[in-house]
Amino acid sequence: MNIEDFPMLKEDLIYLDNGATTLKPQCVIDKVTEYYTKYSANAHRGDYDISFKVDQEYEKAREIVRNFIHAKYKEEVVFTSGTTESLNMIANGFFGKFLEPNDEILITQSEHASNVLPWFRLSRKLGVVVKYIPLDEHHYVTLENVKKSITPNTKVISLASITNVIGDERPIKEICEFAHENNIFVVMDGAQSVPHRKTDVQDLDVDFLAFSGHKMCGPTGIGILYGKKELLEEMEPQNLGGGMNESFDSPNEVYLKDLPTRLEAGTPNIAGAIGLGEAIKYLESIGMEKIEDYEKNLRAYAINKLILIPHLDILNIESDSGIISFNVTDVFSQDVAYYLNKYKICVRAGNHCAKILKKETGVQNSLRVSLYFYNTENDIDNLVELLSNKEKIVEGIL
Ligand code: ALA
Repeated sequence: MNIEDFPMLKEDLIYLDNGATTLKPQCVIDKVTEYYTKYSANAHRGDYDISFKVDQEYEKAREIVRNFIHAKYKEEVVFTSGTTESLNMIANGFFGKFLEPNDEILITQSEHASNVLPWFRLSRKLGVVVKYIPLDEHHYVTLENVKKSITPNTKVISLASITNVIGDERPIKEICEFAHENNIFVVMDGAQSVPHRKTDVQDLDVDFLAFSGHKMCGPTGIGILYGKKELLEEMEPQNLGGGMNESFDSPNEVYLKDLPTRLEAGTPNIAGAIGLGEAIKYLESIGMEKIEDYEKNLRAYAINKLILIPHLDILNIESDSGIISFNVTDVFSQDVAYYLNKYKICVRAGNHCAKILKKETGVQNSLRVSLYFYNTENDIDNLVELLSNKEKIVEGIL
């Protein structure tokens, strides 16, 4: 599927680390280059032709994102540097303002560091309590376990919609419905889901959503914070500076601009935003449903072959995404990744920034294959062939 669009795939590379970041199609590379070569002025600041052009392109990108996630208003789409910054802004700028000691935040042990550490800091700072929703035997979140975990003190549920090691999809819509009946906010970490399937924030009814451009064919250093308008209005900007203020005369006379500019202090990542807009146009030209189906079929193809290899311990035989995590019995995961690299196969090894997941799975490190729509059955066949021969792996790493 569209392999020709990706310059790096012409290099004989088998890239299976899409959960970490994705390759860029030529149209995104061209769009970023166009900005730097033809109109690289600042945004929202100039009174000359190329600066008008930048404003137009930057705001056009925002509209593309709004439409992509089906947000109601453009003001609800804030450009950030990525999921990490977005989640930190949500935790500090919104919840840091009004949570009180003993208020409870529900997460799980399979969250990425970016959806754990900001809450840990709030816990230290404000005395709020971080609690874990128990996972089922497949490490999944069930609505029943969410319901059981809620107390009168629960104020926030913050979950990845798809996790980055197990690849399970959470029932976010049902969780939102139940949470809202109980006056609880829901934060969705969409880093591993937004690039891979259709996202409709109004249908899900999430209060906040965070995701990154580079995991969906866009540039690095750009991401999105989505929040319902009335909630973003309450958010305390974490950065103060140029571009976001209306006027200031003294410490008590500071007037900020409206949303979303108020939350985008300093010169934004203009090339990143424009490049992300182009990446979304590219994904939409393929179709998000088609991408989801393709990845699910390719995963099934891979799993059917990998389960036949006796020396593989697969952590997530069942999963809703293109993520497969496993170990070669008695071989350190990083050594296997290094071995595969000799054959130009890129996979990730380690704990994948989900450092408390080991409490749940008992597995410290693993290899992770994470698929995208440009991967092929041939990529999987190559991987399976190499993994099938344990003796060769062991020899290869000595
Ligand atoms: N969060 C990225 C991953 O899971 C980097 O690999």
